[in-house]
Amino acid sequence: MKQSPFVDRTNLHVAVIMDGNGRWAAQRGLPRLMGHRAGAEAVRRTVEAAPELGIRYLTLYAFSSDNWKRPAPEVNGLMRLLSSYMRSEAANCYRNGVQVRVIGRRDRLQPQVLEAVRAAEILTRPCNRVFLRLALDYSSRDAIIAAAQRLAGTGDFSREGFSRALGQSIGLDGTTPDVDLLVRTSGEQRLSDFLLWECGYAELYFTPLLWPDFNAAELERAVREFHSRNRRFGAVAAPAIVSEHLLASGD
Ligand code: IPE
Ligand code: IPE
Ligand code: MG
Repeated sequence: MKQSPFVDRTNLHVAVIMDGNGRWAAQRGLPRLMGHRAGAEAVRRTVEAAPELGIRYLTLYAFSSDNWKRPAPEVNGLMRLLSSYMRSEAANCYRNGVQVRVIGRRDRLQPQVLEAVRAAEILTRPCNRVFLRLALDYSSRDAIIAAAQRLAGTGDFSREGFSRALGQSIGLDGTTPDVDLLVRTSGEQRLSDFLLWECGYAELYFTPLLWPDFNAAELERAVREFHSRNRRFGAVAAPAIVSEHLLASGD
């Protein structure tokens, strides 16, 4: 793998828009909820594969604020699935050093969902091998507005201050690290209101695979592709800096 001088290879922040559960089910003549169930298995595989690949922060888009527009049976089924995932996976996450946090709004979640979320967060709070963030009732634009409201009147207009306020607005204590790699499955190529501020310099990776088919090998493929990219952050690529230096020194 080609090394990028800008990349800390052990602290990657990977964010995933887990899309395509409905189409996966439709292709099999199954109800959409079966696709979501199979999607939960893919979440488990992805979380397990993360540490080996140098992923420290893993942010998964589980339910957007716009997903409330879906039919009630699908929304309720998704909420049930999310609660049972939290309940069944919390101990596993704890054993594997995975800290679970839910980001997004909490005031519209059903009490049973909230309870499962809180239990998983409390159990895994001491873990720090991987920081797993599940975006639930999440809207990046709403989070940005909430952060701006927090900052109004403080006079702090720094990027750091804004990042901190943004983290707080989605329920995190510290600063939200920038996303290094954003993956979206199912062939769609859009952000759907996910981590708009945090993805300012993210590398984008789109795969036609439907989310329930995602696995460790696919995550590794995405991370490999990420490492082959040349991130410049507006500067000049590293090899060019070296050759200019050689030219200047006359070597
Ligand atoms: C992603 O799969 C899961 C959620 C949005 C909750 P979809 O349910 O959006 O699946 P498609 O896009 O309809 O195939
Ligand atoms: C984005 O997928 C939300 C999640 C994956 C949870 P959607 O399927 O809701 O996005 P659109 O509607 O295709 O943009
Ligand atoms: Mg979709």
